[in-house]
Amino acid sequence: MIVFATNNAHKLEELQQMLGDEMEIRGLSQIGCTEDVPETADTLEGNARMKADYVKEHYGLDCFADDTGLEIDALHGAPGVFSARYGGVAHDSDRNIERVLREMEGVPIEQRTARFRTIICLMQGDSCHMFEGRVEGRILTERHGEGGFGYDSIFQPIEGDGRTFGEMAPEEKNAISHRGRAVAQLVNYLLG
Ligand code: IMP
Repeated sequence: MIVFATNNAHKLEELQQMLGDEMEIRGLSQIGCTEDVPETADTLEGNARMKADYVKEHYGLDCFADDTGLEIDALHGAPGVFSARYGGVAHDSDRNIERVLREMEGVPIEQRTARFRTIICLMQGDSCHMFEGRVEGRILTERHGEGGFGYDSIFQPIEGDGRTFGEMAPEEKNAISHRGRAVAQLVNYLLG
């Protein structure tokens, strides 16, 4: 059994499917953790580590935690660790996108480079392993597509055919996405 330091049921289910019957995953509520787990570091790595450390320290269980950010070069890496609340309200994607588009007004296409990065920190026994998944792309000047969540409708991955993540089917996005790549490394490691 291993704990995934999240309350996101979708993430838990996805991971459990990838791990199959070989390893059971429990979320925070399933281990009785109802308090807010701190994530006040100023890097993705720091936040993933902080969440995993918290579970290890307070519950004594092996665990992993993730943190994801969108890093836009023209904004010097912002929103980065503040991706969830860049527009001022946590998890309000419309406001987050509006702020990004406003701050990037007039930036030419060749300077609109960006990437999503996901960090996963695994604490097993006394050892800590970090996994990173990233996908490079561009920030468009307006939204395209209704699918996905967060910044998907303005992020055009370099590896694709011009569509944004918001225009892709979930399987297509997962095959090249930051999270898909980080999770694949974690699963390989855990099952390897
Ligand atoms: P989290 O660490 O997975 O909670 O991600 C933090 C924030 O990054 C989310 O609230 C979204 O705004 C953004 N984000 C993370 N993953 C994605 C993605 O796959 N597409 C679009 N936005 C994302």
